[in-house]
Amino acid sequence: MTTADLSRTSAGSAARADLRQSVVLRVRALTKHFRREDRSIVPAVDEVSLDMSAGEFVVLLGPSGCGKTTLLRCIAGLEKPDSGSIEMYDRKVYSSAENINTMPEGRHVGMVFQSYALWPHMSAFDNVAYPLRARKVASGEIAGRVHDALRTVGIPELAKQFPGQMSGGQQQRVALARAIVSNNNLVLFDEPLSNVDAKVREQLRIELLEMQQKLNFAALYVTHDQTEAMALANRVAVMRKGKIAQLGSPRDVYDQPNSRYVSNFIGTSNEIPGQVVGEEDGFLVIDSPIGTTRAIGAVPGLRAGSKVSLVFRPERCALSANEPASGNRWLCTIDAALFLGSHTEHVIHVGERAFLIWSSNDMPFKRGETAWLSVASEHLRAVPAEEG
Ligand SMILES: Nc1ncnc2c1ncn2[C@@H]1O[C@H](COP(=O)(O)OP(=O)(O)O)[C@@H](O)[C@H]1O
Ligand SMILES: [Mg+2]
Repeated sequence: MTTADLSRTSAGSAARADLRQSVVLRVRALTKHFRREDRSIVPAVDEVSLDMSAGEFVVLLGPSGCGKTTLLRCIAGLEKPDSGSIEMYDRKVYSSAENINTMPEGRHVGMVFQSYALWPHMSAFDNVAYPLRARKVASGEIAGRVHDALRTVGIPELAKQFPGQMSGGQQQRVALARAIVSNNNLVLFDEPLSNVDAKVREQLRIELLEMQQKLNFAALYVTHDQTEAMALANRVAVMRKGKIAQLGSPRDVYDQPNSRYVSNFIGTSNEIPGQVVGEEDGFLVIDSPIGTTRAIGAVPGLRAGSKVSLVFRPERCALSANEPASGNRWLCTIDAALFLGSHTEHVIHVGERAFLIWSSNDMPFKRGETAWLSVASEHLRAVPAEEG
């Protein structure tokens, strides 16, 4: 339903108000190219569109160089995009068509950087007070708000400390307090925990999530760490070469990858090359070097002749001594059985193809034995063979 349709219904205006209120960020076809020293052009952000609702936690996940920081900096107003638009609530803060480009201070977003970016000559208190002073908040109000923010991030006792006198984790708490002190509805995070020790990182991750839920700001969080992404996100945007390759809940991107890239970037994946030969009962029929199989088409448009890759997760399949009566099944040889505590990893091969299979520890198979590998068609996904 479009906004125009909504306004014609009896509940129209209320519903429309709700719709508007709930969208904190609307990015449309945002593009930013850089010119390298050798004059080659890098499409750092390439036609990205993304909506975020109030209180939502969205994670941008992707390898180094895929454009995560550039996208965040464009949203914060620290980088001027080449084209597209950015709206916060109903306010355009950037539009190439309308020649709008609001300064960072006018965008009312908090930002937390990997490098903390604190003023070294200012105390924790003054660092946190900085955005309030920049916005000319009444001085009588500042102390209370700064102390509240420092309490929220768990370091009220460090108000007078300078950054050089604090641990990395404590400095990042100061940066977090600075990002939330203005009650921004949107806070941007650029790999904020990657300079913090592993132990403190897990603690801070949990605290950050609690704080975000309590204060109810929308968080757009950049990381290259898939575990971190899965732990924090309501929705994950998996990025590749300046584009969002897939956007969905952690469970969706894990269980329903739409490309080889996403299935390999998130979790572990087995792959078989193949070609679509037909359709049957809602599944694609696929010829592969290990025989004909039935699989789910992961994207629309796959048809007879399409080259695909069949992907499945190591835990979404089964090994058995006897041949299953029906379904996708292959006789395999066990190359290794590795006890990993919570489960056993079998390295197997079918013909010339090697796969990883994770099973419960009571699986009796040993190196050199043969077994049957079965993968339900629901768990075998056909994705395009070529990456776009
Ligand atoms: N100021 C710049 N000048 C030239 N190229 C840049 C600049 N900033 C980023 N890039 C390039 O843009 C691409 C995306 O970079 P970045 O957004 O930092 O990626 P990420 O944060 O995902 O690691 C990379 O290829 C990077 O080399
Ligand atoms: Mg980066």
